[in-house]
Amino acid sequence: MEKAQYTITAALPYANGPLHLGHVAGVYLPADIFVRFLRHKGHDVAFICGSDEHGAAITLRAKKEGISPQEIVDKYHSVLKKAFEDFSISFDIFHRTSTPIHHQTAQDFFKKLNEEGKFIEQRSEQYYDEEFQQFLADRYITGECPKCGYEHAYGDQCEKCGTALSPLELINPKSTLSGATPILKETSHWYLPMDQHEEWLKSWIKEGTLDGKMHHDVSKWRNQVVGQCMSWIDGGLKPRAMTRDLDWGVPVPVENAEGKVLYVWLDAPIGYISATKQWAIDNGKNWGEYWKGDRKLVHFIGKDNIVFHAIIFPILLKAHGDFVLPDNVPASEFLNLEGDKFSTSRNWAVWLHEYLERYPDKVDELKYTLTAIAPESKDSEFTWLEYQARVNNELADVLGNFINRALVLAQKYYNGKLPQLGELTDLDEHILEQMGQIRPKVEELLYKYKIREAQSEVMNLARLGNKYLADTEPWKAVKTDEKRVETIMHIALQITASLGILLDPFLPTSASKIRDFISLKNFDWDKAGTMEVLDENNLLKKPTILFQKIEDEMVKKEQDLLFATKQEANIEQEITFQPQKEEISFDHFMGCDIRVGTILEAQKVKKADKLLQLIVDTGLDKRTIVSGIAEHYAPEDIIGKKVTVLMNLAPRKIRGIESQGMILMAENAEGKLSFVSPEKEVNAGSEVR
Ligand code: MF3
Ligand code: ZN
Repeated sequence: MEKAQYTITAALPYANGPLHLGHVAGVYLPADIFVRFLRHKGHDVAFICGSDEHGAAITLRAKKEGISPQEIVDKYHSVLKKAFEDFSISFDIFHRTSTPIHHQTAQDFFKKLNEEGKFIEQRSEQYYDEEFQQFLADRYITGECPKCGYEHAYGDQCEKCGTALSPLELINPKSTLSGATPILKETSHWYLPMDQHEEWLKSWIKEGTLDGKMHHDVSKWRNQVVGQCMSWIDGGLKPRAMTRDLDWGVPVPVENAEGKVLYVWLDAPIGYISATKQWAIDNGKNWGEYWKGDRKLVHFIGKDNIVFHAIIFPILLKAHGDFVLPDNVPASEFLNLEGDKFSTSRNWAVWLHEYLERYPDKVDELKYTLTAIAPESKDSEFTWLEYQARVNNELADVLGNFINRALVLAQKYYNGKLPQLGELTDLDEHILEQMGQIRPKVEELLYKYKIREAQSEVMNLARLGNKYLADTEPWKAVKTDEKRVETIMHIALQITASLGILLDPFLPTSASKIRDFISLKNFDWDKAGTMEVLDENNLLKKPTILFQKIEDEMVKKEQDLLFATKQEANIEQEITFQPQKEEISFDHFMGCDIRVGTILEAQKVKKADKLLQLIVDTGLDKRTIVSGIAEHYAPEDIIGKKVTVLMNLAPRKIRGIESQGMILMAENAEGKLSFVSPEKEVNAGSEVR
């Protein structure tokens, strides 16, 4: 059977900041493991990535740092590239979407679709920031998600529930430039009529068929990916604009389209194609082969990218006609960090490049831990304590210990020569059988994208070796039965050698050290697990320690660092302040009747997650106020609290309850609400001026 050929992509990271461990564990590390494995199995593979250098993610960052978008992408492209290299991620190319070859490729792609009538050109009203004189799309606009109620959803997507949005769907939209409520203004754009593609998408996602033929094995697609796609499709797909009014990006290649660029989510995935082109040019290959025929195209991504890779990009690829569709889209769930979500804006993150600066010789320790906790099918969490436990109890005590023992004994007894395999006991037979089963299991798991389980299966080989030595105790047997010990040590050393092979996709540095210890030059993946990896020509060297234990001090230092940044972040947070409101007169202000009140009673309002119904003693009276604070305070915790009350606000009915006034709250950048309470003891009814 001919070996399948693969084009593997990893989501192009935005060149607007460094990578944190969540990105690595979810996307780049599993992709790299899979690719290294495929190469060992002899598949033809291209491993493609690059930086995503367009879109509002870039221009907003540029604005924040006060430099040009070009400077931003130049800066972060290098940061990303270096971190990937230092972390031994083996991309064949790490390209950029700001290059001419990419612009050309994206424009050609758009042109072909446009000329063939695959887009619909439409005038419509879009939100516009008058102060900044700019249309507001994507991250330029935020508001409440109509699906889940999250208050900071972007104009193109809610990052909480994953829903793809259009700005017009946001509740209470605000410009992220000025903070103001935008106006509507007419403009024209090219839309992808996604609704026209529902039929084939359905059978493609659900059954893995395309044009009535088998296309891919749906059983290998992760449940959450199929589930998310189907809920999308079942919810009804809508036409989606593929262009934007922006001055940073790939210009729309149509006459009279000045000031318009391709939507970044059209442009970026085409980046996979242009990167392949550049790589082909650099390496004398034919790029087209990597996107045609029976090629298996596989996109490694995080779950927030599912709709773009499993629905929108496939629609575009199919509409274009010259390309294969993805064979799989292994999307990961999210990794959390020490009990909280990774957050770039709050600096709640462990940054890959910083880890690598601090611990340049602990690459495999991090790889191992991240794979062991990889969020493949559900969210998972990184903690420094778990990192320490994984390294100490598994890498050092199991793997390192086994390799070290086997090689030290080989030195001591045989001067670094491989002893002969003699007669096998039942125990030996059993061990050989178990050894033989591991490689096929690892392969089966990897072909199913179960990378976490595959790594743990390889570790079972080290466990097996450890147990074998503990059971046979060669250091005792050597006094009575030298022949027997030769067999034991032969088996232990073959296990060592197999580990040097099977660990390679996961822990390339350590695997290569192991192979160096046993002078294993010919790397034959398919021999792993047999008695044929080593022969008498392999010189067995004195080993060095593979994994140092992680001391408590390191854990403490990292935890402190993290929690310190959290505090700092809370203080220095990049808060976007609302501009000052229009001037009012003194009388106008004096018209507001604000007093201190005491909360006497509090209860939840039925079927309203956010509301509490309060009885407040205002000095004048005891009145009912409905307040949107239920997500911030538990009713039982606020009885007796002194708060600030706007008394003469016109009463209004909220969920059928008449609310007589308003409790004033301070809101921080994360949307957390806090009472504004008097700092000294004052009576209910005291006026606030
Ligand atoms: N830059 C996007 C992100 O970080 C991912 C782009 S993936 C690609 O979410 F397909 F568009 F390239
Ligand atoms: Zn949402």
